[in-house]
Amino acid sequence: MRDNTSWRIGFIGFASAMGGLLFGFETAVISGAIELVRVQFNLNTAMEGWFVSSGLLGCIIGVFVAGLLSDRIGRKNVLLFAGLLFLICSVGCGIAISTKSLIGYRFIGGVGVGIASVVSPMYITEFAPPRIRGRMVASYQLAITIGILLAYFSNAWLLSLSDTIQTDNAWLSWVFQHEVWRGMFLVMALPSLLFIVLIILVPESPRWLILKGKYSKARSILMTIQEKNIAEQQFEVIKKRSSLRKTSQRSIWSSSLRTPLLIGIMLCVFQQFSGINAIIYYGPKIFKEAGFAADGALYSQVIIGVVNVVFTLVAITQSDKFGRKPLLMVGLIGMIFSLLMVGLCFYTDNTQGLFLLGLLVVFIACFALSVGPVTWIIINEIFPDDVRTKAVSICTFSLWVAVGIVGQFFPWLLERVGPSGVFWIFAGFSAINLLLCRKMIVETKGKTLEEIEEVYVAPH
Ligand code: BGC
Repeated sequence: MRDNTSWRIGFIGFASAMGGLLFGFETAVISGAIELVRVQFNLNTAMEGWFVSSGLLGCIIGVFVAGLLSDRIGRKNVLLFAGLLFLICSVGCGIAISTKSLIGYRFIGGVGVGIASVVSPMYITEFAPPRIRGRMVASYQLAITIGILLAYFSNAWLLSLSDTIQTDNAWLSWVFQHEVWRGMFLVMALPSLLFIVLIILVPESPRWLILKGKYSKARSILMTIQEKNIAEQQFEVIKKRSSLRKTSQRSIWSSSLRTPLLIGIMLCVFQQFSGINAIIYYGPKIFKEAGFAADGALYSQVIIGVVNVVFTLVAITQSDKFGRKPLLMVGLIGMIFSLLMVGLCFYTDNTQGLFLLGLLVVFIACFALSVGPVTWIIINEIFPDDVRTKAVSICTFSLWVAVGIVGQFFPWLLERVGPSGVFWIFAGFSAINLLLCRKMIVETKGKTLEEIEEVYVAPH
């Protein structure tokens, strides 16, 4: 029985983490395709800007869609919808013949990413037994990092394939040889299809079913993922809480939720203001600025991607043992140190050689074992069942807005204050994050969601 239940939980975690993989892949694939698309469609700067930001705009809308729909039609159906959007984006971008349609399909993919970024980790949190909840949500972050890396490899592989492929098939030569950026988008159809199939196979979240009064279904699902007596107990606790809430409904803006909402928004915004995506996506530019040759700069990006994956594994093994807060503290101290040192390297013009790469690797490693996964773990743990969807959507919305702000201002800041200043600004934001986390975060490892509610949510 026990083996079966862990197998089922593992399968559910794997299926929803695929949403993270698509999130990572969709956001990273563009880095290899953008230059080819620009040349092919003769994009001016404004159109290029639209092509990139349509994805981000989609993410922001997707967060709203997730917030509106996942309480109404359930987590499973919304994830399925996201899977369809990924598929439409992949095929649509792959065969688009105008800039407008390309921008439109990128927007659709962005909506998929926005939905997945809210619902995938939330769905895992609602299933996970307390003793492995950290590990399961961190697996979602692992999937994001694998998705990013897969996109780099698949872009590079398709580029080299386009040089060597010999085919008489007009369609294959169109998408894999002459206009290979099409192939880069089309390959995303495979993980999208896999995601759709996996989500069809997983059950609906029992917590959502209880919220909707579908008790017997929720109970039978809980029985398949826990030992019988534990499932029975859990069912009674969740149901009792849910009926209590029905008699005293609260709004997301109620004062009892102020602290967790503040913590969630702060974690999301400061995760992005650490400069993580500037380093991941502008990596080659930074390395070129530092004097690396073009291919050396690209290899460095792959090294960063691999380190990101490997150190997320540390979070997977440690978040339920060492705890969320200690990981955050250690990781943030390492991030601040490496950012300060990178700034110093640029300030003193000491950017040649492996030292700079080493420092950025330390930064990524520290991010990957702390702020990366722990942000997603905590924002999904600290809100009660009745407001989780809305609250997590608000936090994730602030995350995507922060992604946009960094993307918009990073190149501008690089020009205005130079790389040293930019890295010190990122260090400053992470220092604020460290102080706030130290003061406001209470450890959540091993606790049930109901116990966490007691700690974070003031009685109302
Ligand atoms: C962040 C993404 C980032 C990724 C890198 C995620 O937790 O939300 O913005 O690209 O980590 O691993």
